[in-house]
Amino acid sequence: MGRGMLQFKPYQESVDVSIHVELRNRLYPDMIQTEDEILRERASVPKERIFIETWLATDGEEPVAVLDVMDNYWAAEKGRMLVDVLTPSQDPEIWSEVYRFGEDCAIRKGATEIICWNRSDCTGQVEAMIAAGFTEIQRVPITRLKVDTFPLEDWEKALKRVADQGIGLTTWADLDHEAKDWVAELYQATWEMVQDMPSPTTPTAPKYSEYVKMLEDKKRYIHDLMFVALDGDKIVGYSRLTPTDADPTLLYTGLSGMRRNYRRKGIVTALKVAGIKAANARGATQIQTDNDETNPMYKLNTDLGFKNSASWIQFRKALA
Ligand SMILES: CC(C)(COP(=O)(O)OP(=O)(O)OC[C@H]1O[C@@H](n2cnc3c(N)ncnc32)[C@H](O)[C@@H]1OP(=O)(O)O)[C@@H](O)C(=O)NCCC(=O)NCCS
Repeated sequence: MGRGMLQFKPYQESVDVSIHVELRNRLYPDMIQTEDEILRERASVPKERIFIETWLATDGEEPVAVLDVMDNYWAAEKGRMLVDVLTPSQDPEIWSEVYRFGEDCAIRKGATEIICWNRSDCTGQVEAMIAAGFTEIQRVPITRLKVDTFPLEDWEKALKRVADQGIGLTTWADLDHEAKDWVAELYQATWEMVQDMPSPTTPTAPKYSEYVKMLEDKKRYIHDLMFVALDGDKIVGYSRLTPTDADPTLLYTGLSGMRRNYRRKGIVTALKVAGIKAANARGATQIQTDNDETNPMYKLNTDLGFKNSASWIQFRKALA
């Protein structure tokens, strides 16, 4: 397909989400989502302070892509914008045409640098990105663990090691019953963790009100699947699993981390073992993670038995 064959119209969330989910699930059949999940994900973007514009690309009557152009607000910098082309097509011409439309939108909003993510097995799209002038800046392997065959008996000692150090392991569900404002403490602890994650871009702290709102999404933040390590009444470690309505056999891993002074004591390993036990108890068969290839967390996961398939790749293009 040559340049200029597609039509672009503003995305109307309530109408176009059914097309959106269909395109997304054709692109990633191993990581399917529901319409509701897409809507909740979009609702979590703080639109009152960040720019986002979404387009639906069609080829005649046929929908081919959803395009987001937005501020890269979790690692913000003046002139840095994210262009996200979601299309199941591996025809480099399709990706390129949608991207060019997105790049023009971003330039009109003052972009001098574009961030774009893709998956390593989307070979036609990755080829188009390189041709468009993108350079890889980060590789984030996706790994999966088969929960039902995990040798739990070999890892029980990880839980004992932590208990022997006087560190308590619990869940957010248990902390819910207490009067203390644990959310403020988790916010502080997780921000310390996020700043130490290897990344080519410097993270931007979420506003506290946004963090509180995020935790209120009870479908993503399942209190029984939020594992916490406590030293007395201080949160020192955290690991979260999150289910997907679209596939009850699969759990995704959210942030895992430790406060700086508590690292290399086996605590995140223990939190992950607690998570694997809980996953088994609720009948999930797989847990998925994604970590920067240089993050010690990647090795920690592969030591637990997680196996790598494809990788997320972060690309950057300077426009100036
Ligand atoms: C990565 C991180 C979560 C590890 O937590 P932890 O509780 O210190 O990990 P553990 O003590 O359970 O480590 C288990 C093993 O992982 C490996 N490992 C952990 N941290 C490591 C490091 N900094 N360098 C090299 N290997 C490391 C080691 O093999 C370690 O075993 P050992 O200490 O007996 O050698 C912690 O460093 C952290 O919070 N980092 C910042 C946040 C982050 O990057 N989170 C992961 C992305 S979500």
